[in-house]
Amino acid sequence: MHFGILTGGGDAPGLNAVIRAVVYRAVAGGHSVTGFVRGWKGLLENTSRPLGIEDVRDIHKLGGTILLSSRTNPYRVEDGPAIIAGTLSAHGIDCLIAVGGEDTLGVASRLSAAGIRVLGVPKTIDNDLNATDYTFGFDTAINAVTDALDKLETTARSHERVIVVEIMGRHAGWMALHGGMAGGAHVILLPEEEFDTNEVCAILKKRYEAGHRWALVAVAEGAVDPGLSRQVMHSQEKDAFGHVQLGTGIGIGEVLAGEIEQRSGLETRHVILGHLQRGGPPSAFDRVLGTRLGVKVVEMAEEGATGMMASLRGGEIVAVDLAEAVGTLRTVPLERYAVARVFFG
Ligand code: F6P
Repeated sequence: MHFGILTGGGDAPGLNAVIRAVVYRAVAGGHSVTGFVRGWKGLLENTSRPLGIEDVRDIHKLGGTILLSSRTNPYRVEDGPAIIAGTLSAHGIDCLIAVGGEDTLGVASRLSAAGIRVLGVPKTIDNDLNATDYTFGFDTAINAVTDALDKLETTARSHERVIVVEIMGRHAGWMALHGGMAGGAHVILLPEEEFDTNEVCAILKKRYEAGHRWALVAVAEGAVDPGLSRQVMHSQEKDAFGHVQLGTGIGIGEVLAGEIEQRSGLETRHVILGHLQRGGPPSAFDRVLGTRLGVKVVEMAEEGATGMMASLRGGEIVAVDLAEAVGTLRTVPLERYAVARVFFG
């Protein structure tokens, strides 16, 4: 068989582990692999490179993606799906492997319904994809959050300050939740539940009054206090999948820090972790997960699968329907948030 592979959306540590595993397992099975560059854009613009063992040797240790990535949506391009079908047939691709999150896999699912042979591999640091227990990239990202909170703790303690840490996650707060829990944040705020800044101030003041005169607040970039007087202002530009570009303009971390200081009188600073959460080498967990997914997806193709995704379920890598994974995002259940609340203050 001749495989095509692409990586789309925001990069995630572990992408190169998937690419390497696909190539190694494909070559072992007597197949060949072509990598399309910059996600769906590579198929629209016919930009590709052959991938052999020497192209992928040891790359599982590297962050990012050797195939580059973009947020290109072929359904926003005139005749996009037809151009993709043409490129695939010109290369003689038997099966396309799309590695991505909800947006990339949503396109894969639509193309599959239109008769193109596609398989998916779930990726996102946000961990907000359905039909899989975890996505690779998440573990590395929450370790970065935890590391940042550990570092911020020492300076917050020394200066008796509150530090508000803005963490990626526009619709789902998994990173703020797990990173915040591991890093011992004293308040964690998620997009899943609106918050009240006065309640945050009350928790912090009580903590200070009890003699613990420093605090860390972990806030997901998509968390909302409807009553905030100062406004969160993002660029109004949207990407090809219709998402507002958070991380531009004035984010919730900055606004919340200002409000906390004004309302409580506690000296407060803010830090936006931003793309530090997505960069750098993948954790051991993400290297292994990416590798297992890459091997599995080639096996699935050999067994004749289409419209399916390799997925982590209960510790095993299994095949699930692509359609099951897309359409809605997997957000944090409120009972999981309740576990974190036990440690507030
Ligand atoms: O989709 C992953 C993600 O990291 C989100 O958490 C974040 O809002 C977004 O990407 C940032 O995207 P960009 O790299 O385009 O700024």
